[in-house]
Formats: sequence, C-alpha cells, structure tokens
Amino acid sequence: MEIIIQPTQQAATEVAARIIARLLRDKPNAVLGLATGSTPLSLYQTLISMNLDWSRVTTFNLDEYIGLPREHPQSYHSFMWENLFQHVNIAKENVHIPDGNAADIPKTCQEYEDQIRAAGGIDLQVLGIGTDGHIGFNEPTSSLASRTRIKTLTQQTCKDNARFFGSEKDVPHHVITMGIGTIMEARQNLLLAFGPNKARAIAEAVEGPITSLNPASVLQMHPTVKVCLDEPAAGELKRADYYRWVYESKPAWQTF
Ligand code: F6R
Repeated sequence: MEIIIQPTQQAATEVAARIIARLLRDKPNAVLGLATGSTPLSLYQTLISMNLDWSRVTTFNLDEYIGLPREHPQSYHSFMWENLFQHVNIAKENVHIPDGNAADIPKTCQEYEDQIRAAGGIDLQVLGIGTDGHIGFNEPTSSLASRTRIKTLTQQTCKDNARFFGSEKDVPHHVITMGIGTIMEARQNLLLAFGPNKARAIAEAVEGPITSLNPASVLQMHPTVKVCLDEPAAGELKRADYYRWVYESKPAWQTF
C-alpha cells in the first residue's frame, strides 16, 4: 500500500486526480471503477476542470440503493450524472451503474460481473471508506471473496448517510454492491479518505490485521493500492512519519 498524506483534502484530491489523468492519457479507453458519497466530490470537480477526453472511457460504479427510483436525487445514478458524467464527454452506453430497480436482483448482479469482465476488467477503482471500514457497501463481516450482490447496510451506515436523505428512516436498507472479490480484481485501487471521522477506519485498514471486520483491510493483499489522505484522516496512523518520508523521497520517475 502506498499511503499519501497531504496537508488538505484539496491537495490529496489533486494527487488522486493526477493519477487518474495520467491513466486516461496513457490509456484513452481505460475502464474506471467509480464511487459516490461526499469523498469523491472534489475529485470529480478537479477531473472536470482538467478537460480530459472521456470519449472512449468506460465506467462501472461500485453500488446503488435498491428500490430508489433512478431519478431520485439521492440515487447513485442521479449523483453520477449530476456530479461527473454530464460535465464530461463520456458516451452514455459506456456508463454502468447497478440497477437497483431490477426485477431479478441476483441476475442483474451476475450481468454486472459479466459486463466488467467483457470490458476487460477495471483498470483503476476509486474507493471511499465507511466509518466502519466498508468499501463499496461491503459492510463488516462481508466475505472477502464476495462478488456483486445485495447487501443490507449497517445501522451505522444508515446513520452516516442520513445526512443525504434528511432523515435516517428514509435511507434504503438494501443496496447492490460490487463484492470485495470484484474490487480486488481491479488492476489498481485508489482509496481516498478525508476528515477525522475516517481516522480509525483508515488506521485499522492500513496497519491493522486483515479482517472482514474492517473490509478495507483486505486491500493489504492487493499489489497496487494508493491511499490519498488529508492530515485528519491520517491522524491515527502509527507510521505516518514513514509514509510522509517515502512520499517525499520518491525518485522523480515515480512522482504523480
Ligand atoms: C459509495 C461507496 C461507499 C462510500 C463510503 C464513504 O459509492 O462505495 O463505500 O465511499 O460510504 O462515504 P462518504 O464519502 O460519503 O463518507
């Protein structure tokens, strides 16, 4: 894991944006895995401002609420079009977001896996992290080998996401999420976390044991993971000084 600690959220976001921009320049038909929530908002704004060519890019989102109409302002379909897709030249047919209104949920999950495979796999997966360590909506005790499927959100995640819905009772309890096994097959993972309320989950994921109790900890087994943090999110890392030193000492060819 490469831990990149920056003084501010904006600085950490800019590092992440440069990593993605480089990929899109090197591989114009890249396959990106994308996340929603508050964490990637500044990343999407930065990417939009970079005027990159998205015409041949394919995207797969991590997750979607079940039963929320596509046009609902809090659906991840709405989120992605509002915050990224409508601002870039992506082809509509290259955008993939799980269908939370499918009549046959297991079938649509299998089809999603098939579509990822048919696209050649995900080159780079953007991840946020829940305060309980979830990635995608793979909540604690998710199988570390899981594939795209239905999950039930924890009460903590429903509480955390109530801020988007106005009240906790309006947060859907069920979601479709890429599995941890699916995420682990991405060629590269890019995890972003900002703010002090992510510090515990990040410390457990980076420096704790690999355990399904903190699903993000499985990323320790992935060969190419970058973790972009602001100072508060790095606040509980025991080896933060070492990570800073590594980043500052990078040979020029390794910098972003
Ligand atoms: C969203 C997703 C989730 C979020 C996580 C953090 O697509 O997969 O894992 O990344 O819940 O959410 P925020 O960024 O709102 O704190």
